[in-house]
Amino acid sequence: MKELDRQEAFELASPYPYVLAVTLDRRDRPNIIGLSWWMFTSWSPLMMAVSVGRERYSHECLEHHGEFVLCFPSEGQEKDAWTCGTKSGREIDKFKDTDFKAVPSRVVKVPTIGGVTVSFECRVVNRVETGDHTVYIADVVSICGNTDKVRHLYSIHYRKLISIGSDCGINMDLTY
Ligand SMILES: Cc1cc2nc3c(=O)[nH]c(=O)nc-3n(C[C@H](O)[C@H](O)[C@H](O)COP(=O)(O)O)c2cc1C
Repeated sequence: MKELDRQEAFELASPYPYVLAVTLDRRDRPNIIGLSWWMFTSWSPLMMAVSVGRERYSHECLEHHGEFVLCFPSEGQEKDAWTCGTKSGREIDKFKDTDFKAVPSRVVKVPTIGGVTVSFECRVVNRVETGDHTVYIADVVSICGNTDKVRHLYSIHYRKLISIGSDCGINMDLTY
């Protein structure tokens, strides 16, 4: 074992499942942010959390409208998914400047993204300040997906996106 700097450690611990969170801004315009800091927090009820930097436009959006749609971008969506993780909604309109298509959600006002593997519609129920990010904790109120788009995207630190599918890897018989 040797001591690592943060860059090396994040790179070594990669890949991380990379998701896109759609939010609504003050003008009801949808915005998309790329996130690796997200998690499920409860099984029953199903809940999720996302950690969003306080300077992000998405932070402003979430403070305005407490809903988001968390999408797993599928293989083939790498370029546009990367744009959402590197450009701010303050500078560009991510639904106009990418090939992503806004698709109406089933329950929440925020749209989802066409062609993604899975999308979770979420309503924020709590928020926690943590360092320079805010963690938004949310109820999952509806789930949609494309069962033919099994392979979705993972990030290697902040360097690139790769696609991995749930058809990969070894099968484990997990008994609790
Ligand atoms: C691989 C990757 C993972 C990221 N994960 C997060 C994250 O978990 N939380 C966050 O606040 N920003 C994260 N970012 C940065 C935002 O996606 C980026 O700053 C984006 O431009 C913010 O857009 P916005 O200003 O429209 O909200 C990540 C970026 C990349 C490339």
